[in-house]
This record gives sequence, structure tokens and C-alpha cells, in this order.
Amino acid sequence: MATQASAVWRWQRLAIKPLWFVTLLLPLAWLVYAAFNDLLGANPAQALVRASGDWTLRLLCLVLALTPLRITAAWPELARLRRMVGLFVFFYATLHALCYGWFDMGLEPTDMAKDIGKRPFILVGFSAWLLLLALALTSWDRAVRWLGGHNWRRLHRSVYAVAGLAVLHFFWMRAAKNDLAEVALYAVILALLLGWRVWRVLR
Ligand code: HEM
Repeated sequence: MATQASAVWRWQRLAIKPLWFVTLLLPLAWLVYAAFNDLLGANPAQALVRASGDWTLRLLCLVLALTPLRITAAWPELARLRRMVGLFVFFYATLHALCYGWFDMGLEPTDMAKDIGKRPFILVGFSAWLLLLALALTSWDRAVRWLGGHNWRRLHRSVYAVAGLAVLHFFWMRAAKNDLAEVALYAVILALLLGWRVWRVLR
């Protein structure tokens, strides 16, 4: 019985990262498939910008859910996924920004800079992306040693600012269309995930 349990444990340790890696690539695979098979509706460029933005926000919720899940479900293996899921958030955010830059702005840096300055919701999204860039660049073991554990943890707390900026970005975009139901859903999920952390600190 004990050997069986340890075999399951070993299997889980080996398989968990590759399984999640493949799973997190599925949204990208679907978007590529849909784009090449004309499944993105009347405005494929807009659909790609929006879908990549949605996946960035979903994975941001997922990365912030890993610690509460690990602790409440006593599932220590989840700690090994944090860096990978975080890098996927950055990957989808970059894809989202590139879709916008390419389809809406023809990859013209000056037009993009002007647009970012002109439309506050894009400035907010861009600020979130800059923070994610800093987190991605310092996500390696060497960066932890270079910054020191204390500074590294302080810097990586800015993921909470990313969550706030992401909701504000989404809110600002949808407020113009008076369509806030989805924004409210993500705001509640993120508030619960951050609230759980505050509750643990206070306790
Ligand atoms: C953490 C970073 C970001 C997150 C989480 C995010 C998330 C989102 C979400 C959820 C949407 C709405 C999708 C929908 O309506 O279903 C959206 C829209 C949009 N985002 Fe972002 N975004 C981020 C960064 C950026 C950046 C860096 C840019 C550009 C520089 C950008 C440009 C846009 C644009 C132009 C739209 C509107 C598309 C439209 O009107 O159809 N976003 N974003």
C-alpha cells in the first residue's frame, strides 16, 4: 500500500509540470486553429485582442489562486507551478499587446505611443504589462540571489498591483459600453483571493 502511494506521489511530481504546461498552451492552440479556420467571427482581429486579454486575466486569477489552494487543500506540489503559471500570464499579456500593436496599430511604435498616451485604459493595461515584465525578468533563481530574498519578495508583491490595474483596464474598456457583468465577476474573484491573504496575515 505504502509503495503504491509513493509511486502515485512520484508520478504526480514528474507529471504535474508538463501536464500544466501543455494545458496552458491550449488557449493559444485554439486561437491559432480558430484564426486559420475562419472561426473568429466577423472581426477576427478584435476577437484575437479580446480573447488574449481574457486569457491573461484568467491566468492571473489562476496564479493568485495557487497559494490558497495549496494551503487549504494541503497540496504542496502546487508551489512548483507558481513560476510557470506566472510566466504564462506574461506570455498571454505580451500576445495580447502584440495583437493590439499589430492589428490596431500596424506595429508602428510612434502610433502606439500616441494611442497609449491618448486612451487611459490602454495606459493602465500597458502599466500592468510593464510590471509583469519586471516580474518575468526576475523570476529566475539567479535574480532571487542577486536581489536578496527580502527585496525579491517585495518586488513580486506587485502582482497585486497588476491584478488591480487589470481590473481597472477591463472596467474602463467595458464602462464605455455599459457592460460590466464580467468585470464584476473578475473583480469579485480577485478581491476574494487578495482578501484571503489579508485574512491570513491578520489571523
Ligand atoms: C496584465 C495586462 C493586461 C490584461 C490582464 C488585459 C486584459 C484585457 C481584457 C480582459 C480585455 C477585454 C476583453 C473582452 O472584452 O473580452 C482587454 C481589452 C483590451 N486590451 Fe488589454 N490587458 C492587458 C494589457 C494590455 C496592454 C499592454 C495593451 C496594449 C498596449 C492592451 C490593450 C487592450 C485593448 C486595445 C483592448 C480592447 C480591445 C477592443 O476594444 O476590442 N491590454 N484587455
